[in-house]
Order: sequence, then structure tokens, then C-alpha cells
Amino acid sequence: MLRKLSYIILISCTLSLNSCRLGDDEKDKIAIGFSQSINNDIWRKSMDHAMEVEASLHPEVSLTIYNANRKAKNQIRDIDKMIEQNVDVIIVAPYESDSIVPVIEKARAKGIPVIIVDRKANTSEYTAFLGADNLEVGRLAGKHIASKSNGSANVIEINADLNTSPGLERSLGFKQILKQYPGIKVITVDSDNFGHPKGNYIKLLDSLPNIDYIYGFNDIIAYNAWKIAKSKGLEKKIKFIGVDGLNGPFGGIQLVKDGTLESTILYPTGGSEAIKLALKILNNEIVPKNNKLNTILIDSLNADIMSNQFDKITIQQSDIEQQQSVIKNQERKYSTQNNLLKLLTSLFVIVLSLAIYSVYSRIIISRKKQELEETNKKIKNQKNEIKRFSNELKQSNEARLNFFTGLSHEFKTPLTLILSSVESLEAELKNKGISVTKEINLMYNNSRRLLRLINQLLDYRKMEDHKFTLRASKTNLLDFSNSIISDFDREAKKKNINFSLTTNNSELEVYLDRNLMDKVYFNLLSNAFKFTPEKGKISIIIKEDKTNNSVKIHFKDTGIGIPDNELGEVFNAFYQGSNNYRNSSGIGLHLSKSFVELHKGSIEIHSKNGAEFIITLLLGTAHLDEKEIIKEPVLDFVHQSDYLDSEVIQKVEPQNTEDKYSILYIEDNKDLLDFISHKFSTEYTFFSSDGTDAVEKALELIPDIIICDLNLPEMNGFQICERLKKDLRTSHIPTIILTASDDQDSYLKALDSGADIFLTKPFNLKVLAQSIKGLLFNREKLRFYYTNNIVNIEEGSFGVSEQDFLKKLNELICKNLENSAYTVEDLARDLSISRVQLYRKVKAILGISISDHINNMRLDKSKELLKKSNQTISEVAYAVGFSSPNYFSTSFKNKFGISPTEFKNI
Ligand code: FRU
Repeated sequence: MLRKLSYIILISCTLSLNSCRLGDDEKDKIAIGFSQSINNDIWRKSMDHAMEVEASLHPEVSLTIYNANRKAKNQIRDIDKMIEQNVDVIIVAPYESDSIVPVIEKARAKGIPVIIVDRKANTSEYTAFLGADNLEVGRLAGKHIASKSNGSANVIEINADLNTSPGLERSLGFKQILKQYPGIKVITVDSDNFGHPKGNYIKLLDSLPNIDYIYGFNDIIAYNAWKIAKSKGLEKKIKFIGVDGLNGPFGGIQLVKDGTLESTILYPTGGSEAIKLALKILNNEIVPKNNKLNTILIDSLNADIMSNQFDKITIQQSDIEQQQSVIKNQERKYSTQNNLLKLLTSLFVIVLSLAIYSVYSRIIISRKKQELEETNKKIKNQKNEIKRFSNELKQSNEARLNFFTGLSHEFKTPLTLILSSVESLEAELKNKGISVTKEINLMYNNSRRLLRLINQLLDYRKMEDHKFTLRASKTNLLDFSNSIISDFDREAKKKNINFSLTTNNSELEVYLDRNLMDKVYFNLLSNAFKFTPEKGKISIIIKEDKTNNSVKIHFKDTGIGIPDNELGEVFNAFYQGSNNYRNSSGIGLHLSKSFVELHKGSIEIHSKNGAEFIITLLLGTAHLDEKEIIKEPVLDFVHQSDYLDSEVIQKVEPQNTEDKYSILYIEDNKDLLDFISHKFSTEYTFFSSDGTDAVEKALELIPDIIICDLNLPEMNGFQICERLKKDLRTSHIPTIILTASDDQDSYLKALDSGADIFLTKPFNLKVLAQSIKGLLFNREKLRFYYTNNIVNIEEGSFGVSEQDFLKKLNELICKNLENSAYTVEDLARDLSISRVQLYRKVKAILGISISDHINNMRLDKSKELLKKSNQTISEVAYAVGFSSPNYFSTSFKNKFGISPTEFKNI
């Protein structure tokens, strides 16, 4: 666009400048060159002036005058120059008649017209000659003397250069006439180049007594001769005749009028005529070769008339010159205005061009815009279409994947049942002293394997959806590694594999997501064990690299290794090694790499005499995001061992129903419900709910532990848990979420809803049993704490809801301490719960019955009153709500081992 614009402006400017220049163009003018021979006398100047005046009347004429300064070679040089410039006409006033001939002929040969003026050239190769007849001039002078002197006179003729035609012809004509008069005697003398008569003229003046006439070649010579004669007092006796008859102060006419010259012969310069003749020639008019100018004798009789006429001519000429100058000024103005006009026109053209171009551009741009909009529209439509397709595809894909994920989750419950049954079977056999059969191991190991594959598929899906968030906590790497490798000890022993773990820093701590890194270890070790033959070697070497602030964990085996050309592919999803004849999902290593990279670490593989995987992890936390770091994992996911554990669940002796803790298991899978109920009913009072009446049952039973599934028919596990935790009556009950959904979201939601433990299916019975025990133990610890700190319940000792409950409870008891009629029923009513619920809740939190708790509070208060007041024992007994002082004394002694009287007296 910009380039186009500058192009237009450039063209316009060029056009404008060209048009300005056309007005001044010299090329179309007629070039006339004039070679003048002499420059310092008035006749020559008059000739030049006449030419200039005439040329100025013709604007098309460009006249250039060259001056040779009385030098023939200068004149030749000037004419040569004119030939070179190829002027239209050359006018020459020859200095010499011979030397000039070759250059004149050269001009003619070139086709340039040549006009000879004044003196003649000795050639016929010129176009025209212009000048007065010098013979005639001489004759006029001779005739004049003859007539005036009546044929008797003494005459001195003062000649000029006889090498020039005027010199020769004027003398010739003069003598032609006078020789006809024998009484007229003529003596001829010469003059020098500057018009001074030579020395013999003075001698003649002195020697000849009667000189009548002196005839000079021109007025200057005649005047100089007069001056010399005057110096001798002879000027009045002699009559002087000159030639040229110029008008003006020093011209011949003025000399005649002054009486200095007796007469002068008019010899016109022909300047004006020469220009006119040149124009005729250029106009292709036929002109005579010889153009004669008229001559006349001027004496005192006609000098005034001549002078007047010449003056008039001069005035006219000066008028013409003035007008010329006015015209020139006008022309200059015109030219300036014309140029200005042209410039303005050019500018206008530029502006117009720009305007047109701008309009044109706008049209083009709007067209382009329209085209672009259309294309854009098309692209948008296509994009929408693609988006729609992609959405449809995504949806169908999503649906399939959801179905597949759901199905995978569904697999977990039956697998749990299989695994738990196998575990249980194995335990039973062991208890009976029967060793575990191969088949049971096979069933167990393959179920585990199946489960691992399902878990890997679910992890892969999660990884694809970017649903993994790192939850790294400070972990002792050696302890962590040890906890995992213990699962492989049995396998190592079985295959006689030298299995070792070494480290160069047993204190080394690394920020790990234990759950993810557990899977990485498990994958790498499973691989190593899968491919390492009997009596082989598998080693884990932990090497801290202080310089790089990192740690390298080497997993080295002496197995079949991986072919070199496949090393780059092992971490690709669904990679199947060419030498791997065992079934493999091909996801394990891919996931391991992804999990390591979530830690901003790297994993590489080498294969030489077996395979070696090297994990590099950075030390410290600088590489991790703040939200990726957790202090200590609140709940650990339960690590899944791939191999059957030889330990079995400790058989628990049946207890009295009274002493048994109660469990409410909310689960809609009947098989699982039966299985768990069967496993735990000896040790615990076991209640169940299929989820439809979970909250009601919990409120009714106030169990010691609640185990709850997540996917339930009416309310889900989170909702049930939340309801129970918010209810004063059940908020104290420890809750275990037991689910097939092992993702982070469910885990966090479970924590949010107030659950205490999160276990994923399939669970290990031992782990479940241990979790239940752990929760009950913690509850006992709280009870102990509480029963020993009845009055001062510290902030944060219990859950907020328990604290509130106890505060409320204690306030009500304190308020009614004196009132012996205030019953447990009244208290339950004031707390808006049933008597049984109050009983169970207080029992659950404090480990004692509500009436014992009220009694304890009364007795504690009585202690205070006994010490601080002057009340009697009876008064104190009534003040703390005992109906009989005796019963108070017994109770006091039972609790504190001392009677109230003794206590008061201490
Ligand atoms: C001037 C002049 C004139 C004369 C003419 C002849 O230089 O001497 O006086 O008439 O030249 O060529």
C-alpha cells in the first residue's frame, strides 16, 4: 500500500517537474551564433547592439556573440565551437579574408548556413553576404571632393589595412573617381591598427602648404587626423572626410554637425539586417547571396536630418527594448505563475490520485474484508462442526470410559470378597495346622494380580484426566523402601533371589507422595521379580548426590533385560517387550514414569546383564508447589501386597455380650455384609444396614464404630457420615469409610464429612480389624482423659460437637445440682434426646453411666463445699442433690476412700 502510494507521488512529481521545465526549454529555440572580430570600437559595438535588439524581437531566437579580439585564430576557434554546438545559423564578421576560409567551408559542409557581414571572405562557400558597397563608399568620397573643389585640390588619403576588403575597396573606389580629375592630387598614407595616421602624415602636413582634403578610412581616422592638423593650426584650412557616419556623441554625424568633419559616408553596420536574414534562411526563404546595404554622404546639409532620423530610430529602439523588458518581465511572471499553476495542478493531481487510490483501497479493503468475513464464517462453521463432532466423540468416549471405569470399580467388591475369603480360608487352614495349599496361593496371587491390573487401569485413566495431585510428605527413604520390600521377601526366598537394599545415608529424607511412590516401587520390583530367574540378584541402591541436591534410587536385576532398540519405548503406554512372554498390561512402567515426573523427578533405564531403572528425585521442597506439600498424611491409603501374607488374623476370644463393643456396618452388598459380619461377630456386637435406614439405625443403636460404604441406594456414604457427625447424639462415633473409589477426591470428601479412616476395597481384613481397634483405643484414651478432667474440659481435647454436648450436659447438671428430684429423664429431655441415647452417648464418651456421671459431679461439688463453706455434712449432702445424708456419706467414701467428716477435718 505504502509502496504504491509513494510510486504515485513520484510519478506525479516527475510529471510536474517536467512540465515546469518545458516552459524554459532552450532546445526549441533558434540558436544563432555571431563571431565578431573586433570589440573595442563604437561601430562594432553598434553592430552587436543592433543584432541584440533585433534578436530580442524574436523570442524564439537565442543569440550568442563571440569576440575574437582582433585575432584570426580566436575567430577560427569560436566558429569551430559553434559548429560543434550545431547552431542553426553562423554569422561571421571576418577579421581577415583568407585565414577564415577553411572554418567557414567546414560549417557549410556540416550544413550550417553562414552569413558573412561587413568584410568579405575569400570563398564562395557561404550562404549570404551582407554589407555596404565599399567601392561605392570610396566613389562617393571621390565624387564629393571633385564636385566641391571644381577639379582642383590636394588630397591626402589615410588608409587602413589593405588586406581587408573595406580597406582595399574604399581606396579603390576613391581613386577610380579622382583619377578622372588631373587637377586633384592624391597622396596616400597609412594608419595603425588603432586609427592613428602614421608618421608620414605629420610630415606631409608640415611639407605641403595647401592641403584641401583629407579622406580617412573611417571617422575615427579622420578625427585623429583632424586632431593632429589642429595641433598645427591647420584644421580650418583642411576639410576632413570620414566613413561610417554613426549617430551618437562620438559618431561621424555629430562630428559633421560640430564642423570637425566636413562630411562622412554612411557605412551601416547591418546588425539588425543580419538577424533578419538569418531568420529568412531558417524559414527556408530564398535570399540573395549578396545583400547590399545602402550608403550615402552626410554633410552639413543633411547631418541634422540624418541625426534626427537616427535618433528617432534609437528612441524607437529604446522603446522596443523597454517593451521587450516589460514583456520579459511579464513572461517571467507568466512563467512563474505558469510553473506555480503547474505545481498546483500536479499537487491537485497527486491529491486526486491519493483520493482515488484511497477510495479504491477502501473498496478493495472492504471487498477483502467481506471475503475474509465469509472465509471466517466458513471456518467458524467448520470449527463448530468439528467441535460438535469432537464433543460427540468426546461424549461417546467419555461414556465408554465411564462405563469402563464404573465396571472396574464394580470388579473391586467381588475381588474383595474373593481375596478376603481366600485369606480367611488360609487362616482357618493354618489354625487347623494344615499348610497353605498351592491352589490357595494361586487363587490369592491371581486375585491380587487382577486387582493390581484394575488399579493400574484406573490410575491410567486418572493420569490421562490429569486428576493426580501430588501430596508429598517428608519421608525417610530407607524406612519407606524397607516397608515395601518386606512384601517381596517371601518371593525372594521362594526363588532364592539375592534381594538387597543399601543406602549411603540412612537418615536421608525426601518429599514423597507415599501412595504414588509405593506404586512405582511396587511396579519396578514386580517387574524385576518377574524377569529375574532363580538364584538371581535384585538390588535397590539409594545414593544421595549432595552436589546435585538429589538422590538416585537404582533398581537393578540380573534378569533377561531389555533389547537395546526397545529401551526408548519401555515407558510408552501399552509397551510389550519383544522378549516378554508373560502377560503384561504395559501400563505399569508408563504410570511409574508419570508418577516420578509428578515429583519433578526422572526415571531412566539401562540394560546390561539385566535391567537397571534409575529414579532421580530432588531433595528439599524448592521444586514443589506449596499445595503439593502436606505435613503428615492424615490417613494412609492401605498398601496392597501382591503376595499372600503368612500371618493370619489373631483369633479373639469371645467376650461377654455386655463388654463387647458394637459395630454398625452400612453396606448394600449382602455378600460382603455377611462376610464381614461373620468375621467380626465373635468379637463385636455386629449390626448392619443396607443404607436405606442407616441414620435411623445409628441413632437408635448409638454403636461404638460405624463402617460405611460410599455408593449406597438413598444417601451416599459422605452424606450419611456428615449427618451422623453433625448430630449431637452420634457425633462421637468413630467412622470408617470403606469404598472401591480410591481417588483423591473421595478421600478428601471423606475427610470433609468427618470420617476418621478411609479404606479402599479390596481391603485386607487384618487392616480393617486393626483400624477398628485403633479407633476404639483412641476413644478409650479420650474417655480416660475426660473422666480425669471432668470439670475442666479443655478446648481441642474432643471434637467440637462432643465438647458442646458435654458443656451443655454439665451446665444442666450443675444448674440442678441441689434438686434431688431432677432425674436422668429430665436431663435427656432438656438435651432433646432420648434417655437411651443419653445413656449410650455418655457411656461412649465418658465410659460411665449418666447417673454415675451425675453422682461424680455432685460428689466433686460436695468436696468444694466441705472445704470452703461452714455447712454441715447434711447441709452439703442436700446442697449437691442427695436425698439422704447417709447415702451421701456412703457414696463419698466409696469414691474418695474417706468419709466427708474426715475430709472436712483434714
Ligand atoms: C570598424 C571599422 C569601421 C569600418 C569597418 C570596415 O572596425 O574600421 O570603421 O567601416 O570597420 O571593416
